[in-house]
Amino acid sequence: MSKINGGDSVLPVLIVGAGPVGLVLSILLTKLGVKCAVLEKNKTFSKHPQAHFINNRSMEVFRKINGLADEIMRSQPPVEFWRKFIYCTSLTGPILGSVNHMQPQDFDRIVSPVSVAHFSQYKLIRLLIKQLENIGFQITSEELRPDDVGLAEREVLLGHECTSIKTTDHGVTVTTSFLREGKHMEKNFRCDFLIGTDGAGSTVRKLMSIDMSGEKNLQKLISIHFMSQDLGQYLINDRPGMLFFIFNTEAIGVLVAHDLKQGEFVLQVPFYPPQQKFEDFSFKMCEILIFKLVGRELADIDVMDVKPWVMHAEVAERFLSYNNRIILAGDAAHRFPPAGGFGMNTGIQDAHNLAWKLASVINGIAPPSILSTYEMERKQIARFNTALSLQNFKAAMAVPAALGLDPAIANAVHKTINNTVGSILPSELQRAFLDGIFRIGRAQLSDSLLNENNPLGSRRLAKLRQIFEEGKSLQLQFPAEDLGFRYREGALVSDGNSLSSASETPTGQRRDYIPSTDPGSRLPHMKIQLLSELTRRETFSTLDLVSGENVQFLLIIAPIEESYNLARAAFKVAEELKVPLKVAVIWPTIDGISRSEKALSPWKNFVDAVEVKRSPSSPSWWDLCRMTDRGAILVRPDEHIAWREKSGTMNDPIYELKKVFHVVLGL
Ligand SMILES: Cc1cc2nc3c(=O)[nH]c(=O)nc-3n(C[C@H](O)[C@H](O)[C@H](O)COP(=O)(O)OP(=O)(O)OC[C@H]3O[C@@H](n4cnc5c(N)ncnc54)[C@H](O)[C@@H]3O)c2cc1C
Ligand SMILES: *[C@@H]1O[C@H](CO)[C@@H](O)[C@H](O)[C@H]1NC(C)=O
Ligand SMILES: *[C@@H]1O[C@H](CO)[C@@H](O)[C@H](O)[C@H]1NC(C)=O
Repeated sequence: MSKINGGDSVLPVLIVGAGPVGLVLSILLTKLGVKCAVLEKNKTFSKHPQAHFINNRSMEVFRKINGLADEIMRSQPPVEFWRKFIYCTSLTGPILGSVNHMQPQDFDRIVSPVSVAHFSQYKLIRLLIKQLENIGFQITSEELRPDDVGLAEREVLLGHECTSIKTTDHGVTVTTSFLREGKHMEKNFRCDFLIGTDGAGSTVRKLMSIDMSGEKNLQKLISIHFMSQDLGQYLINDRPGMLFFIFNTEAIGVLVAHDLKQGEFVLQVPFYPPQQKFEDFSFKMCEILIFKLVGRELADIDVMDVKPWVMHAEVAERFLSYNNRIILAGDAAHRFPPAGGFGMNTGIQDAHNLAWKLASVINGIAPPSILSTYEMERKQIARFNTALSLQNFKAAMAVPAALGLDPAIANAVHKTINNTVGSILPSELQRAFLDGIFRIGRAQLSDSLLNENNPLGSRRLAKLRQIFEEGKSLQLQFPAEDLGFRYREGALVSDGNSLSSASETPTGQRRDYIPSTDPGSRLPHMKIQLLSELTRRETFSTLDLVSGENVQFLLIIAPIEESYNLARAAFKVAEELKVPLKVAVIWPTIDGISRSEKALSPWKNFVDAVEVKRSPSSPSWWDLCRMTDRGAILVRPDEHIAWREKSGTMNDPIYELKKVFHVVLGL
């Protein structure tokens, strides 16, 4: 095999895997001034729609990526097409129940400046690539590159699979394998930090011998990507929705409507190997299966792709390796059931947590030890979201269970057959046996049984109604976990007097988000206007006070004497420690607002802003924060709260703030 040296240049950050997480990370790092490049094993970006739900917190991250959130909002299907989950015996047959997951208040932008979105992963990737190109990235592949050229910063290099990693005292060397004119070749690249965003089967994780803990192989599934405008148009007219849970005597499956207007769908069906074989799911067989679930044939059906995949609920035991120089993020660090849509979102938020910390280390603001707080903070969230997704998966199963179709039983039956007769019966017979049992199971769904006149049927239908009414089926929005997640330990100073009680074990119920300034929480959103732009009457979010363009901390205060003293002390400490700091002075009303210039002199990096209350009776900023205007809030570059002072009584602000920055940055 030919080996090529990829040049002597050493990149500060090399990202392995151009999925949504790797691409978001490369954008965030570049905005923060960190040089990076991305390696991707595939020659093209995947067209499989995969994840499709973007939660509020991810949209808030996207909002700061040059208009990305707006573009997603504009490009996604209208919400009328995706607000519902529908349960039915076939897409043209009776509806067993439907749940609307978007309430009017979900669009009023009170708790967040953006709403959730429904947008297929491959379309998101397309927009991320466009963003990367806008900031000077080039998407390249091997054919076009000279041999001895190293990986340039701002490059996404396709067709290169990371196959081995060597570490030295000075950094990391990555070997990739690629094809040139049909020949396998290898190339080495050097970097200071290597980030593994290479997905659920992460090579980087395996090469570092990092184990996963949790539950493996929860369920095997076949994912069928197909197009049919006929079906899309029919559903738009008859029963628009995002997810369709279909149970009938011939088949069961979950249909994800990625885009009704385009007629783009993914059908997920349970898969029981080795009795069932992947080869059984030929495009033709998939069409037949789809027709059984639709309840009629579709003249324009076009099966694009069929993929098997396995659902796990696992978190890597470590996110960091080799002196914090090798770091895992996204599915490489955690993989969980898609129920609730936390997979991709958790990964995007990993990238957001990691970007400013890496930038701090590379820009000399913090020592590499700050990266330990990445693992501390994100592992806790990954574990929580794994448990939540597992819970959601179970909630999703409540409906088939109520219909007498418990998937846990199906799995147990399969296991029993596999483990008992599996070694005796020829595989054809095993398969017939399994199919027979499943058919008997699905017989529970026949019209003659599942109707109001049949005592068992009517009991089951009543149970179903109860599940839907009590909100015990699968939910779409999780406000308490989406915006309300909080880091408990890490790059923050806990004040031991935290109010929020977000429990350690998820409930899976729609609990509402309570804005909080407990250290580790995301800064609450409130509409504000800037004094400098009052005449334009443009409103901003408090989240906009935090810069996405450099690693900068933000101190929020009210315009009172003690707080100005504190702010001056903070500026002084920050200057000494070379930590960029901005101060935001929040004024309660427009009357009497003036520039804080004199009070903060000689420091200049401040903004004056005024609260924009929804109505005279809505809470003011400090009420929303459950503090008084004597308090102060220190916010990290990722909009999470590093520290707060509730009462404003501090004997020696310089000493206190030094302590705070030392703890937060791990100095
Ligand atoms: C078929 C399928 C259907 C899914 N459906 C849903 C869904 O409906 N809802 C949901 O929420 N989630 C779904 N997911 C999960 C969701 O897609 C992931 O959570 C999300 O993609 C994670 O993003 P990531 O960037 O961490 O990893 P990935 O998107 O997996 O990206 C990893 C990238 O790394 C590349 N790579 C891997 N190994 C190497 C290597 N050695 N060298 C170089 N590059 C490498 C891969 O080619 C890939 O491009 C699905 C996943 C699959 C596979
Ligand atoms: C997302 O933000 C919107 C707009 O503020 C809000 O109405 C909705 O409740 C939020 N959803 C979650 C899950 O937090
Ligand atoms: C089925 O049996 C095979 C061979 O004995 C085994 O490897 C596999 O793990 C079993 N699968 C299940 C789901 O029990």
